[in-house]
Amino acid sequence: VSPMPPPTPPMTDLKPIQLLEIKARGRFGCVWKAQMLNEVVAVKIFPLQDRQSYLTETEIYQLPYFSSHDNILKFIAGEKRGDHLNTELWLITEFHEKGSLYDFLKGNLVSWPDVLKVAETMSSGLAFLHEEITSHQMCLYKPAVVHRDFKSKNVLIRNDNTACIADFGLALKFDMGKPVGDTHGQVGTRRYMAPEVLEGAINFSRHHFMNIDMYACGLVLWEIMSRCSAADGPVEEYQLPFEDEVGQHPTLEDMQDVVVQRKHRPQFREQWSSHAGLTSLYRTITECWDTDPEARLSAGCVQERLAQLAATTIH
Ligand code: ADE
Repeated sequence: VSPMPPPTPPMTDLKPIQLLEIKARGRFGCVWKAQMLNEVVAVKIFPLQDRQSYLTETEIYQLPYFSSHDNILKFIAGEKRGDHLNTELWLITEFHEKGSLYDFLKGNLVSWPDVLKVAETMSSGLAFLHEEITSHQMCLYKPAVVHRDFKSKNVLIRNDNTACIADFGLALKFDMGKPVGDTHGQVGTRRYMAPEVLEGAINFSRHHFMNIDMYACGLVLWEIMSRCSAADGPVEEYQLPFEDEVGQHPTLEDMQDVVVQRKHRPQFREQWSSHAGLTSLYRTITECWDTDPEARLSAGCVQERLAQLAATTIH
């Protein structure tokens, strides 16, 4: 009898990773700071039942052009880890010590040049996401992608205070000539839902979804300017958008009442009127969160306005 071949070892190409500390808990699993050989990385661990979110996210990160854009979180690998009784899905990305924009704003005041830097790089990431890129080689086709859960916890801050966009578990891509996959309308974080989403009155065109991202982008831009140290007078403690009206855990009804019925939006603060840049930025933000989705600015337009603002204001 011939000898049995040795069993093939499972997944020999997995590099050893040591999980160091939990940095964030999200809708799907949690994010760890981890050590992979000589490199510090972030590991987002999805339980097996959140497989779809893991698959969506890894697919989006691996689309053409994604890995080379400065304002998208850098993807390193997606792996199945653990034994067959306790399988987990690990999404490995670059790690950013400053954490999310939300963490950053809670702990820091922001100078006017840094307001512009964070805002412009964040808008650049969103403009890239929304953009469809075609080339004659079809293998380098990037579909338009919408995020659908845009918020300050899903924007990360690099050491140089530029921003990158993360968390594509709810993202949708729009491949040319293909109908959008099976989806439903009311997803994302209630606090950041556009009025038409709160009303359940959405259609499924890509421009419609982009307008929904832009509403949320307006709220995040307001969060950034709310911590700016450039205007006269004291800066208030960080608050989430609408926190003064709906608190920490709003219901859908709370949000419908404030955003749809009362048509409230985060307010202009009196001390901003002394600063031409902040006054101008607030005007741009009001064009992101217009009740009429079609009237909202595109991400590319916001990026342009911010570049102009940077060129015309100094302090
Ligand atoms: N929180 C969520 N993702 C992160 C990352 N990649 N780096 C640092 N903090 C994070």
